[in-house]
Amino acid sequence: MRVLVTGSSGQVGREIELALLNDLHEVVLAPHENLDITNFERVRSAVFDTHVQAIINAAAYTNVEKAEDDYIDAYAVNALGAGNLAKAAFEARVPLVHISTDYVFSKATGRAHLEDEKTFVQSAYGKTKLAGEELVISSGCSYAILRTSWIFGPFGHNFVKTMLRVAQDKDLLKVVCDQKGSPTPASEIAKACVVMAKALVEKPELNLEGIYHFAGTPYTTWDEFARVILAKAFELNLLDHEVSVQSILSEEYPSKVERPLDSRLDCTKIYEVFGLKMPYWEDYLEQTLKAG
Ligand SMILES: NC(=O)c1ccc[n+]([C@@H]2O[C@H](COP(=O)([O-])OP(=O)(O)OC[C@H]3O[C@@H](n4cnc5c(N)ncnc54)[C@H](OP(=O)(O)O)[C@@H]3O)[C@@H](O)[C@H]2O)c1
Repeated sequence: MRVLVTGSSGQVGREIELALLNDLHEVVLAPHENLDITNFERVRSAVFDTHVQAIINAAAYTNVEKAEDDYIDAYAVNALGAGNLAKAAFEARVPLVHISTDYVFSKATGRAHLEDEKTFVQSAYGKTKLAGEELVISSGCSYAILRTSWIFGPFGHNFVKTMLRVAQDKDLLKVVCDQKGSPTPASEIAKACVVMAKALVEKPELNLEGIYHFAGTPYTTWDEFARVILAKAFELNLLDHEVSVQSILSEEYPSKVERPLDSRLDCTKIYEVFGLKMPYWEDYLEQTLKAG
């Protein structure tokens, strides 16, 4: 299969390239500097000129704090950019795998969120990502939207690397304890995107279009996640001292963004349809920490 990867130099984009190559697919890489997904004519040409059989979109405006003051730019990428890809995918009759987020669920329900559950969004970032989902769905293209959360991996910026960096000269870190969710390894998201793209290309008759949740296991909180990261870093000699974590409430952490208090994603559907299991996130920490 020949696949166009947009946002290919990002944290997940880099892993999608590796996952496609490992599975012996042909990859057409479209990093931001080569393809700005907000430009429909460029997107259309990229899809038609390269004769790809599928598109995987890993491009996004991901600075959640900045999006609060920069809604127009965030909307251009996360909503209109996703819509451009979907429109080109529809015209070219190729499927689109698009990545979305747990930020579409700002309201806690006391249980993990299901794909068909009503969304509720508070943050600017979440609003732009939800608008992107809606444009993909309404485009008429063959699509799979993978919603995920708390991504980490060896490429790019993420919470695991931040904890390791800030812990180098501290004995105590304050981390919020009242937000639940699932850390998810970028490499497993990439593999899931490839499985989904392949199924959409090879088995169109199965009508697999839809939204799918995919996240790591077990569910945790940011402070517990930080404790596991710091213990692992110490065990790997990446920290020369032990670091404690003080649990604080979200309201004690200065931020413009209303982050979801419970972004646990129910991942039953993606397992039943594609056989994709929730990865044990702890197994993936070492590789990310070593890339620190
Ligand atoms: N990170 C998380 O914890 C998280 C959680 C849930 C869902 N997600 C979703 O997962 C996906 C991948 O995120 P990630 O962590 O890999 O983010 P990332 O590392 O920030 O990668 C995003 C990529 O998109 C590129 N990009 C930005 N604007 C673009 C444009 N107009 N045209 C083309 N490319 C553009 C960026 O390039 P530049 O850097 O050059 O701008 C970057 O290479 C996104 O859809 C994100 O919303 C992320």
